[in-house]
Amino acid sequence: MTQTTLLVNGKSKSINIDDDTPLLYALRDDLNLKGPKFGCGLGQCGACTVHVDGQAIRSCITPAKSVSNKKITTLEGLGSSAKPSKLQQAFIDEQAAQCGYCINGMIMTASAFLAKNKNPSDQEITDALSGNLCRCGTHQRIVAAVKRYLS
Ligand code: FES
Repeated sequence: MTQTTLLVNGKSKSINIDDDTPLLYALRDDLNLKGPKFGCGLGQCGACTVHVDGQAIRSCITPAKSVSNKKITTLEGLGSSAKPSKLQQAFIDEQAAQCGYCINGMIMTASAFLAKNKNPSDQEITDALSGNLCRCGTHQRIVAAVKRYLS
């Protein structure tokens, strides 16, 4: 293990991790940030999505050391239950979550997408979120939440 500095949600944190420790584990286990979820652990479901320098990435397959000193944002960096961001509020208002497990990753993917696409079409929204899986099948409400945010 070696000491690594991560810049998470605007704060610098030093932790001791192995060279191959996934960012997801560092965030959840060392920094107690439970926004990113463990779904597949293989980079295929999107539940673990966070931002690194504004890009949505899969934290389960990203070694934490590889993003040392880059700007990392988790769901907690967007807002809180007491003060949700506009996008988080749109997901709440549309009741986009069913079981809710995928929603954090959906919001992180949508947030990064919307930062670069101010007026996307319905198809572009659907395409942007197509890599995030929802086993409950609430994709229509999730897309509606993104559209509510844009309205
Ligand atoms: Fe990372 Fe599924 S847990 S993509």
